[in-house]
Amino acid sequence: MERDTRFIWQHKDLLDVDQLSRKETLHILDSATYFKEINTRAVKKVPTLKGRSVVLFFAEPSTRTKTSFDIAAKRLSADTFALAKTGSSLQKGESLKDTALTLQAMNPDAIVIRHNRSGAAKFLSERLSCAIINAGDGRHAHPTQALLDCFTLREHWKEFRGRTLCILGDIAHSRVARSNVKLLCSLGVKIRLCAPSTLLPPGVENWPVKVYHDLSQAVRGVDAVMCLRLQLERQQAGLLPDLREYASRYCLCSEHLDKAKPGVKILHPGPMNRGVEIASSLADHDDSLILDQVAAGVAVRMAVLFLFLTRSKEA
Ligand code: CP
Repeated sequence: MERDTRFIWQHKDLLDVDQLSRKETLHILDSATYFKEINTRAVKKVPTLKGRSVVLFFAEPSTRTKTSFDIAAKRLSADTFALAKTGSSLQKGESLKDTALTLQAMNPDAIVIRHNRSGAAKFLSERLSCAIINAGDGRHAHPTQALLDCFTLREHWKEFRGRTLCILGDIAHSRVARSNVKLLCSLGVKIRLCAPSTLLPPGVENWPVKVYHDLSQAVRGVDAVMCLRLQLERQQAGLLPDLREYASRYCLCSEHLDKAKPGVKILHPGPMNRGVEIASSLADHDDSLILDQVAAGVAVRMAVLFLFLTRSKEA
């Protein structure tokens, strides 16, 4: 695929997907298609960001996002520096502001931040001059996850308009659901949410979605189902009477797929609780895109790092 080499990238930070125009979203996806090819080469490294430095500031656990940002930056020849809560002065009580100013003093080109507080990435973006990339803040947003989910679906669908996606599970605590609803709706995908009422966010009636409580009805005729992790660490006690009861009503099983369109695609942002959110056999099914999502994460994050670190210059 040919990249549009005349595109001028203006944004300093990536905080959420609603800051992106449709044209900018598609430009990220097209750029990721270009970078995906690099990931298939024997030598998976290009000099594009040589001499640039990226701090990976992960104050919450991560496997996929952290590793894929690290690999993405290194494949573009940028240097990466990882900072986690454990082993950093955050553990001694240093504030987010002082940690951020300390990092800024070392003059990185970008800080990729994951934090349990919604708004943490915005807080840094207002105080620091380097690019701030949100890698997940509380339950607010996870823009690169939504972009990679979009990328993964486009590889199979080609067109978004006329497609229907069911997002299933713990919507209330999910930044992935929030960013995906915004992004996929803006591209013309119809979204259904399916969860018990205790796992739906306040104000969901104002979201551009259809809400279901019955999984068999929610998956009827859909093109894809995205299962979400039950975020027990963010839940107050009492939202669910019993985990087994939850699984019996909301765990995606093969009987549900029979009601969806033939060849329905199965997604999960990970990490998965097999047998709670998704039957193990479906996680490993031929129509499961779960590992495609992980692979797309590297290409999409290469595109994001490239665009945000070379902004205002001809790509
Ligand atoms: N999808 C996702 O954010 O996974 P990690 O928590 O492993 O980064």
